Amino acid sequence: MKEMDIELRVERPEDYRETENLVREAFWNHYSPGCNEHYLLHIMRDCQEFVPELNIVAVHQGKIVGNVVYMKSRIEGDDGKTYEVLSLGPIAVLPEFQSAGIGGRMLDYTKKIARDMGFRAVLLCGDPDYYSRHGFIPAEKLGIRTADNKYAAALQVCELHEGALSGTGGRYYENSIYEVDETAVKEFDKYFPVKAIVTGTPSQQRFQILSGMFRDVD
Ligand SMILES: CC(C)(COP(=O)(O)OP(=O)(O)OC[C@H]1O[C@@H](n2cnc3c(N)ncnc32)[C@H](O)[C@@H]1OP(=O)(O)O)[C@@H](O)C(=O)NCCC(=O)NCCS
Repeated sequence: MKEMDIELRVERPEDYRETENLVREAFWNHYSPGCNEHYLLHIMRDCQEFVPELNIVAVHQGKIVGNVVYMKSRIEGDDGKTYEVLSLGPIAVLPEFQSAGIGGRMLDYTKKIARDMGFRAVLLCGDPDYYSRHGFIPAEKLGIRTADNKYAAALQVCELHEGALSGTGGRYYENSIYEVDETAVKEFDKYFPVKAIVTGTPSQQRFQILSGMFRDVD
């Protein structure tokens, strides 16, 4: 299949609402009824740990069809050291443009920038079936646990150069901004077109199962 004509570039202030709407379209009813990721993106940009150089949009014929963002976060290593890492997400591609390789291209492009900027590793919570295709491995393989010291099936890591995390395990602390205030989401959502809320979709059910897959440290 011919590769789609896509420009990857940093998001600009005049793109903000279009990008937020695209994120809402991609996530709507996907992991839960409605979604909060458009609001999350909205508040992330003002956060000190947000990395503007890694706020990338995919543009097709003047239309924003994809977006990925990153936040600085940390691993408290079992060796007593603190490792600054990146948290990836949200990442979104407009539904009608999905499965055309855009998500993969955004991942490859931003990982290269992140490596050049000197970041060690990227972590995320997401579906291993997708991210394993793009260089991510279960965080458990590197001994990395959640902040409350559990191995989580959804937690994945991609070292940006070999041995970047020194082979030490540790606890991963993501930015508290990811714990979104649902009341604020409802208020923010009023500025977007009305969309029907659907519960119990197959993707919501899969997410429920995946996010419940935790294991205590032996
Ligand atoms: C996940 C997402 C960004 C991928 O973007 P994309 O441009 O569709 O990705 P690509 O074209 O590079 O890859 C598509 C392939 O990944 C698969 N894929 C996409 N999401 C997947 C998932 N959650 N689990 C498993 N496979 C997935 C597709 O089925 C497709 O497979 P195929 O090539 O065999 O048809 C996009 O599907 C999206 O916006 N989804 C809704 C929001 C979301 O889930 N974001 C990620 C949160 S962790």
